[in-house]
Amino acid sequence: MKTFNILSIGLLLSLVSCTQVPGGKGDSAIEQKIEALLSKMTLEEKLGQMNQISSYGNIEDMSGLIKKGEVGSILNEVDPVRVNALQRVAVEESRLGIPVLMARDVIHGFKTIFPIPLGQAASFNPQVAEEGARVAAIEASAAGIRWTFAPMIDVARDPRWGRIAEGCGEDTYLTSVMGAAMVKGFQSDSLSDPTAVAACPKHFVGYGAAEGGRDYNSTFIPERRLRNVYLPPFEAAAKAGAATFMTSFNDNDGVPSTGNTFILKDVLRKEWGFDGLVVTDWASASEMMSHGFAADPKEVAMKAVNAGVDMEMVSYTFVRELPALLKEGKVKEAAIDEAVRNILRIKFRLGLFDNPYVDEKRMEVLYAPSHLEAAKRAAVESAILLKNAEGILPLSASVKSVAVVGPMASAPYDQLGTWVFDGDKTKTVTPLTAIRELVGDRVQVIYEPGLAYSRDKDQSGVAKAATAAARADVILAFVGEEAILSGEAHCLADLNLQGAQRELIAALAKTGKPVVTVVMAGRPLTIGEEVERSAAVLYAFHPGTMGGPALADLLWGKAVPSGKTPVTFPKMVGQIPVYYAHNNTGRPATRNEVLLNDIPLEAGQTSLGCTSFYMDAGFDPLYPFGYGLSYTTFEYSNVKLSSSTLKKDDVLTVTFDLENTGSYEGTEVAQLYVRDKVGSVTRPVKELKRFTRVTLRPGEKKTVTFELPISELAFWNIDRVKTVEPGDFLLWVAPDSQSGEEMAFEVIG
Ligand code: NOJ
Repeated sequence: MKTFNILSIGLLLSLVSCTQVPGGKGDSAIEQKIEALLSKMTLEEKLGQMNQISSYGNIEDMSGLIKKGEVGSILNEVDPVRVNALQRVAVEESRLGIPVLMARDVIHGFKTIFPIPLGQAASFNPQVAEEGARVAAIEASAAGIRWTFAPMIDVARDPRWGRIAEGCGEDTYLTSVMGAAMVKGFQSDSLSDPTAVAACPKHFVGYGAAEGGRDYNSTFIPERRLRNVYLPPFEAAAKAGAATFMTSFNDNDGVPSTGNTFILKDVLRKEWGFDGLVVTDWASASEMMSHGFAADPKEVAMKAVNAGVDMEMVSYTFVRELPALLKEGKVKEAAIDEAVRNILRIKFRLGLFDNPYVDEKRMEVLYAPSHLEAAKRAAVESAILLKNAEGILPLSASVKSVAVVGPMASAPYDQLGTWVFDGDKTKTVTPLTAIRELVGDRVQVIYEPGLAYSRDKDQSGVAKAATAAARADVILAFVGEEAILSGEAHCLADLNLQGAQRELIAALAKTGKPVVTVVMAGRPLTIGEEVERSAAVLYAFHPGTMGGPALADLLWGKAVPSGKTPVTFPKMVGQIPVYYAHNNTGRPATRNEVLLNDIPLEAGQTSLGCTSFYMDAGFDPLYPFGYGLSYTTFEYSNVKLSSSTLKKDDVLTVTFDLENTGSYEGTEVAQLYVRDKVGSVTRPVKELKRFTRVTLRPGEKKTVTFELPISELAFWNIDRVKTVEPGDFLLWVAPDSQSGEEMAFEVIG
């Protein structure tokens, strides 16, 4: 770490923060109110603000604590009548009348459930993310919730990790763009809008790099990688105005995030100028004892507060231990005051002092038709067409009968995905319901699920399903994962389809009828065998409340797929980690065949050329990052760079023609990748730098432009300085991370 750089960046940001934005950074009216209130607070009241409790249901008990000023925030209260009752105690019966901040995990919808964030990321459409978060905020705030623990912007390159479902996948840039859009959607234009919900980018930081994809596991991310890969989405979220941040569970290189001064003070506060609230994850403060980083609750409180945590979620070490720590001088009063300022600042920004109560009538907005429409649009854009042999999709008018098979065809709870505390499965529209509604009497729908749920191993229904399916023109097989198979603590070491789903697909394929496989899951699964057996594969992740109508429209061509993989799909679990933005190694793989069985007996040590690949899986994945088909085809041509030699402060303009060469109107996600050929440290073979969605009618051709400031090629180099290093670069404009014509340009000093 170069102290000089951090200090100078910090200075710059603090100068910037002197500019006053009403309700925002540097709003002197709010700062004065904070100081006035702080000066009246007792130590107990200050510590109370730093304490977040989880609702215990019993309103009397909670009211007692609130009255004494011992609670700053409550999570998991979702009834507006109860929220108002508790708030009334805080505002009218506590000594200083400080309102309580009501929090909840509203991750991809409150009542109207949107696709899981990983699905939303497949849309490569920040509007989907923003709209999803806006709808979630409107609905959650109607219940009195003004703080959500989202967006989850942990870059994740290991689909064994169940929480990959909650984030935007493997790419730093895509996660940054989608995460910032979610922050905007949750918070709207002003936090004081009663429909605004304070965002909480999480988990700060590196949590997605859990060793072995096992949740809560340690991470070992060196500072350069932290800064190049894991921190940028959080910086983008902070720039987008995120009100709060959450520390992560993991210890990185031996330091749990909740006690990590470097990330919480040096990076978040000093470098990025963040003036909001930092909360721990659930008991991540006291878990520092299990980590072996603190001996007892007292050391926990000391390490967390001194590292820069403001509020503790549920583990009560602050309220209990800080008085003694203060007396002993192990925690300074200034540190406590700073934490309280950060908390009060968010309460003022949310307008809670002026407007503490929720209008109970606003609950009417739940499941509003416009919310359901937005959720359906999001589900359409989140689906990825992975295969479409002989154009089986969209289903033509000549298809007179379909067999709807598989455990996910009618699984109203499971299609909602993970982190759905409040979604109501009776509002879910399943594919089966939607298909019946869409096709009416025109197409016979034969429903035979074959398996009751995704882990079902009982194969007694499989033959029946295959027999029924054989009577149909086309088989629609809905497979995947139940919601509970992904999300927090739900990690897997085997990513094949669970239960007897593989046997089901095999039996369906044997009928000789075309099988269209639709996968609903919380992660990329290793479905190579099912892809082989299917005529078409549509990957929908967990698509949410309106997943059914979205999929029905896609299958019958009322909508055209446009999603792209936000994460690499491995062929086999053993390939993990497999991601596109890897470094090249000194011996990059040159061939990709599976060579295991071709190696002659007693072959020489170097018989396979000594490059970096697996004998049984090659080096490429099942599907690369950024991949996805459409019902139409697109042709890229005429890629031009504004210049082949650029200076560090130039903007590179890349133009190209994109033509719809097929027969459907469709949307292509065009992507721009760059490679820095030689650096003071080795650089990824490709990095996504821009993307855009372009909608074209059949035969239509458009010239598309990407503007890329050369400054965005900066990275943390050998001297631990973020800079653009002059030299040669390669560039691709492409439909995915593995194709496109290679172009070159040079950056000069
Ligand atoms: C633990 C999870 O890690 C975090 O994402 C969530 O926000 C909290 N629990 C609160 O429920």
